[in-house]
Amino acid sequence: MAALDAMRLVDEELVLEGDPWRNLATFVTTWMEPEAQRLIAENLYRNFIDHAEYPISAEIEQRCIRMLADLYHAPGETTGCRTQGSSEAIMLGALSLKWKWKERQEAAGKPVDKPNLVFGGDVHVVWEKFCRYFDVEPRIVRLREDKYVIGPEDVEPHVDENTIGVAAVLGTTFTGHADDIVGINDLLLRIKDEQGLDVPLHVDAASGGFVWPFLYPHSEWDFRLEQVRSINVSGHKFGLVYPGIGWLVFREKADLAEDLVFYENYLGKTDATFTLNFSTGASMVLAQYYNFVRLGREGYTVVMQAMEQNAKALAAKLEDNGNFDLIGAEKEQLPLVAFKLREGKDYDEFDVSWQLSAERGWMLPAYTMPPDAQEVKVMRALVKETLSRAQVDRLAGDIDEACETLEKKGGAHPQERHKMKRSPGY
Ligand SMILES: Cc1ncc(COP(=O)(O)O)c(C=O)c1O
Repeated sequence: MAALDAMRLVDEELVLEGDPWRNLATFVTTWMEPEAQRLIAENLYRNFIDHAEYPISAEIEQRCIRMLADLYHAPGETTGCRTQGSSEAIMLGALSLKWKWKERQEAAGKPVDKPNLVFGGDVHVVWEKFCRYFDVEPRIVRLREDKYVIGPEDVEPHVDENTIGVAAVLGTTFTGHADDIVGINDLLLRIKDEQGLDVPLHVDAASGGFVWPFLYPHSEWDFRLEQVRSINVSGHKFGLVYPGIGWLVFREKADLAEDLVFYENYLGKTDATFTLNFSTGASMVLAQYYNFVRLGREGYTVVMQAMEQNAKALAAKLEDNGNFDLIGAEKEQLPLVAFKLREGKDYDEFDVSWQLSAERGWMLPAYTMPPDAQEVKVMRALVKETLSRAQVDRLAGDIDEACETLEKKGGAHPQERHKMKRSPGY
């Protein structure tokens, strides 16, 4: 097949994909500036792991880590790594928790066969995946119909000497709120004081790590809190880089278990690696650095504030039209709107999502909350850089119209219901 034909063939297939400009489901970046796109395209051949051949890319990774460590108030010299996304960062961070726990137990002459990890039902699926893949008992705090994040009172009954760590979320996938990280840190300090158990706290800041420092700089969730030993963040979410780039940052070098670092020299120079993957592109590391130097703290603040203002405008319109209640709009939250239908409708959130997609092609997900709040249905619209204020007005109008259609015709047919997507999107 000729190159042109092959390209057309692939392009033709892709026409059927969802339109990123109407994708309100994903947290992941769908647009970057042309200069960033050029940088990415020009560096696609570069294998990031070849540190001997591409030492500057490796240096740029280290600079990004130092900038993030500074942003997250690390007390001194630290360490970390670039990953494929938050999932890889979480796997590596949680492995380090497991190894450090083993070291503590062995030093005390205690058994190492029953590790457990404590987290809430509000976490991303990757935390359960880690537990299954790496043989750790998940101790999951269940949600309630009126409580979608966790706090110290939920964590306390689950912590014991086999707890490798507690994971708390900054900006949940479901409603965009934060667990009570200050409260959990205080609890872990009290347990250290009273029982001598030093249980580390990992913050899953996949989305929140690029939002809280700019929208809520005085809110403490990072290394300002003593028990926070490691943090993951997705560069490809609010870090504003295309997929896939994530970051793992430790509080101190000693928080990374040395046993997990491998040294090899077959690419031309002895190199330390702490990754689940090996070969991977350098482009997204360079694109992250581009954003850091292009935007700086001030620029990220401007972008986050613009998204937040647009999210608030959408929230106000949805509330005014009388069909929806907002979920936790008065709390610190990612730039999104989480909402549910008011009582007494003949249709549900899945119907609205379906109708809106049929009428205007918006992808605005509906889903049920995790146990024990599984009866609660939620809709969630990400308000990203690409959703302008004018588009917010149009979207609010389109949601109204979808509701009007449903008022007249009732909910979706069972055949249609059968085809509806029920995941929160990523
Ligand atoms: C809170 C949270 N943690 C982890 C992840 C997984 O991140 P990634 O897609 O970067 O692997 C997500 C993705 O949506 C998330 O929202």
